[in-house]
Amino acid sequence: MYEHDVLIVGAGLAGLRAALESIEAGKNTAILSKVHPVRSHSCAAQGGINAALTDRGDDWKDHAFSTIKGSDYLADQDAVEIMCQEAGENLIELENMGVIFSRGEDGKLGTRRFGGQSVARTFFVGAITGSAMLHVLYEQTVKQNARVYEEWFVTKLIIEDGVCRGVVAMDMHTGKLEIIKAKSVILATGGAGRIFEPSTNALICTGDGLALAYDAGASLMDMEMIQYHPTGLAGNGILLSEGARGEGAYLLNSEGDRFMKVYAPEYLELASRDVVSRAEQTEIDEGRGVDGCVLLDLRHLGREKIEERLGYLQEVATEFRDIDLAEQPIQVKPTMHYIMGGIKTDSSGATDIPGLYAAGECANVSVHGGNRLGANSLLDTIVFGRRSARAAIEYISTVKSHSTSNVELKNETERIKNIVDRSNGERSATLRNEMGIAMTSGIGVYRDTASIEMAKNKISELLDRYPNTSIDNKGKVFNTDLIFNLELKYMLDVALTMCIGAEQRKESRGAHYRTDMTERDDANWLKHTHVKNENGNPKFYTSDVKITDWKPEIRKY
Ligand code: FUM
Repeated sequence: MYEHDVLIVGAGLAGLRAALESIEAGKNTAILSKVHPVRSHSCAAQGGINAALTDRGDDWKDHAFSTIKGSDYLADQDAVEIMCQEAGENLIELENMGVIFSRGEDGKLGTRRFGGQSVARTFFVGAITGSAMLHVLYEQTVKQNARVYEEWFVTKLIIEDGVCRGVVAMDMHTGKLEIIKAKSVILATGGAGRIFEPSTNALICTGDGLALAYDAGASLMDMEMIQYHPTGLAGNGILLSEGARGEGAYLLNSEGDRFMKVYAPEYLELASRDVVSRAEQTEIDEGRGVDGCVLLDLRHLGREKIEERLGYLQEVATEFRDIDLAEQPIQVKPTMHYIMGGIKTDSSGATDIPGLYAAGECANVSVHGGNRLGANSLLDTIVFGRRSARAAIEYISTVKSHSTSNVELKNETERIKNIVDRSNGERSATLRNEMGIAMTSGIGVYRDTASIEMAKNKISELLDRYPNTSIDNKGKVFNTDLIFNLELKYMLDVALTMCIGAEQRKESRGAHYRTDMTERDDANWLKHTHVKNENGNPKFYTSDVKITDWKPEIRKY
């Protein structure tokens, strides 16, 4: 019998932080993940975690302002205030748990400056911060004997009378579908980067939680806000951390110019990511690129600093490009990295559906608005992972019993049997490639009405073709052919919401830059966009942005 008080789907940083909170509160808690927890995509986060520590003379309000300005005023300011105020205690708690943050010569925790921040407030572990945090949180859950459904895949949320009561999930070892009953479910499934090609994201980032919540009727908010990271490695898009620029690396064009002085005279390479990505794309489009890229130059930092503080970048550069960063600049380009949009939640992680919570990249609280600042995502996972568990714990005190229905298990068994039984259809990989190409060219760093329409039409066409896909592997054990097929449907559903958001937002703001509507339009579009599934059809609507102390201003770096 699979029954829990709190079921957390996803074992990255948000999921593990939520799990710890729930276990420590004595609740019957389980974590479910399609991969081993330490293989979650949080392990790829490199550069650091932001926090304004008062005893170092920093001020959470300055962090909040940088975040709000970075968001192009689309973030909900009450949520940003919570995140920035709670950052310090969360950081110190992580340190106490065992995360060995880098320290300076004085023995104190060291910081580097990240993009869009007025001061250095990014705490880091070399260039493997996410991995270091993930391992420590995983160790803590192991210490607590957490129940982990490892390599299980959720196919459906169970919603009864409008309330979330658990999930239907496949044990990938046996292919068997089971009901896991839960008084509350927290989705912490990460992003959806693989809707785009290339992406800095792991292949597992297929928007599962977003699609599950959307299918269940939750609102997805600001889905058009797609972050392109300025330094994806040429070719495969592997992330080369903003930490490099935080340590002083330059961006150069083919003429050897530090072109950021034109686009962001004050912040230069440390302007916010949307600004830097647009600058790079303009250089490339105007013929000052190098084979469709620009150059990231670390040579002046010296070998010792590169190897000590950016060792992981040196490994990637050597391994994939045969480049020694102390000797040679490396080609980089804007690469899809993060979705600011996500399942709409309040600042406690509650979605529109009672019993269903979300945290981390799959959620939109909203603290990132139109553009997330580097190193605010690790902070978001920890702060709102913890908060979502606290809220879920409070909620379950009102839930008397578990679901007794088997209906969804029967429906899902039938649905998946149909996929396995189909033969001679298109391969899901074909559709996946077409989706990735269309989304990158249609909803890219720059977009316009025609490109958005092209992407939307393509996604609609792929959704029509999806029911005719088939898989070759008809087996039960670790049928990744089947999992990829299910993930494809998740990605297509989420991609459509991105296209709808992009089509509807008739302005440029943050990462959503339309070459045919280049101005931010606060009078009409200081608003969140929402897409919700109503009887199988996407319904679009908007809601107001919460402004507290920071009135929208012209955004310059
Ligand atoms: O560049 C980086 O290290 C990425 C950090 C982030 O996305 O927060």
